[in-house]
Amino acid sequence: MLLTFPRAPLPAGLAAVSAVFLLIYLYLHSSLGSGPHLLSIKASTQASQLSQCPPSSAISDIVLSIKTGATEAFDKLPTQLLTILQCADTLLLFSDLEQNIHSLHIHDVLSRYDPEFLEHHADFELYRKQKEYQAEGRDIQTLSTMKDSNSDWRTAGHNAAWALDKYKFLHMIERAWELQPDKEWYVFAETDTYIVWHNLVKWLERFDPSEPLYLGRGEPMKKEEGDGFFFAHGGSGFVLSRAAMYDFCVTKKGLASRWDARIPDLWFGDYVVAKALKEELDLNLTSAAPMFSGHKPINLPIGAGIWCRPVITQHHLRSEEVQTLWMLEDDFYTNSSSNTPPYLRFSHLFRDVLSGVKFPELRSEWDNMSQDNTYTIKAPRTKVQAKEKPDERVGEPTVEKDPNSSPDACNAACEVVGTCFQWAHLNFTTVEEKKQHSGGICYLSSVFRFGNHRPEESWVDEKNATNIHMWVSGWKTAAIEDWLANALDSCGKVDWT
Ligand SMILES: *[C@@H]1O[C@H](CO)[C@@H](O)[C@H](O)[C@H]1NC(C)=O
Ligand SMILES: *[C@@H]1O[C@H](CO)[C@@H](O)[C@H](O)[C@H]1NC(C)=O
Ligand SMILES: *[C@@H]1O[C@H](CO)[C@@H](O)[C@H](O)[C@H]1NC(C)=O
Ligand SMILES: *[C@@H]1O[C@H](CO)[C@@H](O)[C@H](O)[C@H]1NC(C)=O
Ligand SMILES: *[C@@H]1O[C@H](CO)[C@@H](O)[C@H](O)[C@H]1NC(C)=O
Repeated sequence: MLLTFPRAPLPAGLAAVSAVFLLIYLYLHSSLGSGPHLLSIKASTQASQLSQCPPSSAISDIVLSIKTGATEAFDKLPTQLLTILQCADTLLLFSDLEQNIHSLHIHDVLSRYDPEFLEHHADFELYRKQKEYQAEGRDIQTLSTMKDSNSDWRTAGHNAAWALDKYKFLHMIERAWELQPDKEWYVFAETDTYIVWHNLVKWLERFDPSEPLYLGRGEPMKKEEGDGFFFAHGGSGFVLSRAAMYDFCVTKKGLASRWDARIPDLWFGDYVVAKALKEELDLNLTSAAPMFSGHKPINLPIGAGIWCRPVITQHHLRSEEVQTLWMLEDDFYTNSSSNTPPYLRFSHLFRDVLSGVKFPELRSEWDNMSQDNTYTIKAPRTKVQAKEKPDERVGEPTVEKDPNSSPDACNAACEVVGTCFQWAHLNFTTVEEKKQHSGGICYLSSVFRFGNHRPEESWVDEKNATNIHMWVSGWKTAAIEDWLANALDSCGKVDWT
């Protein structure tokens, strides 16, 4: 057991608690040891019988690393271990504290960080506290409320666990190679990532692991790195080939430690990975979007773009949503009459997860993510604008009122644009020391999704101005229903590009 009790005689209460722990521990061990296997992480004969898992011969050269933190590990890992991680042939768990879960070890990837940081840097205060809590047998999860020590506007709203996370990535990559060298593929994901294994394996077959490859869902970092720089979004999962890992961990041995002093100035960890790969190996990201999706079903951007594409990862899933997808997958494969598992596509997620969801016409304090760059379409001009400045947009529909001026006007704009499925209207107010200005922005979207409740937001920015944001969203429900009626079961051959 991990609890190290103080050497002084135990107070009666603590002794009782430790006895209970010991009993639970013994009970779990004996029941798991003799009964049917609940967890068969290492016994892949059992895992290979699960419909969601490819045969072990297909995955024996894939190392899956899950990154977590001590404040959340025991919250989210158990469900993952009972579901998608059952399929893993080689599984590594990385965190910011040495722990064990069932028969698996959780590695502290920060243990070899520059001692100067471990002992003194403010971002490592949580790291030091976690060790203290562990030694004292206190509840580490309560540290999840610890605030980020930085007051930088970029970190506003984040906790200390978030601030510590960026330090883990490069050491995690090195540790994965050290523990499991020379495998073909190294997949890195997080505790709220869902992985569709059959599709992951099929997709990886298209690439050659002896080429240096960095695969994932690209996010731009224009301001910091300029055009053309993309990092793989960590929560959606990313993949490094054997050759990339070799260059990183062997050719450039000691890379992670050499970067230790640079990390405080870099914003977050998945960006750090892309920057290190670029600078040290001249390796660019190969896009795996939309198959590696940053969204869970409820936030999927539904439309022609992804409808027929295979799903490889989903992100931001709560434990019960992981469970739902796991059961859905099982149904999907066991229902299939073919010998090889069919490809799970986004359309299936819609059919099986979302089909009960009714899109409302309008919701206040709601963000349907219409402002997502990828799918945003240009709002139409007003009649007056079109008349004053005739240009190449002749023949395009116009509206009476400026779409930005109100939710109603935004809705009217969506109505006249044929490709518009939904809209979101942002009402913003900025209060500076002496002046205040406000306005609206209308976002039209060529895809539809349910999105999230988003109450009024207010924060102080880097110029010390107070910002207030209010969102209203609307859907063109008739157009959505028409589209769905035609789209169901319309997919042909799988497109992996
Ligand atoms: C990587 O991307 C940059 C743009 O950021 C481009 O200039 C460069 O040629 C690319 N390198 C490789 C090896 O593809
Ligand atoms: C599986 O088959 C059952 C019965 O035909 C059906 O109700 C269910 O929707 C199917 N599920 C999936 C995921 O295909
Ligand atoms: C924004 O909200 C305020 C307060 O409700 C309102 O007075 C103003 O007209 C709104 N502006 C826009 C552009 O919607
Ligand atoms: C529309 O907006 C609401 C809130 O803005 C969001 O929750 C919802 O998911 C969005 N709908 C779609 C279809 O994206
Ligand atoms: C920011 O605003 C607060 C309160 O309005 C004020 O006390 C502080 O001096 C301001 N800081 C800067 C950098 O302007």
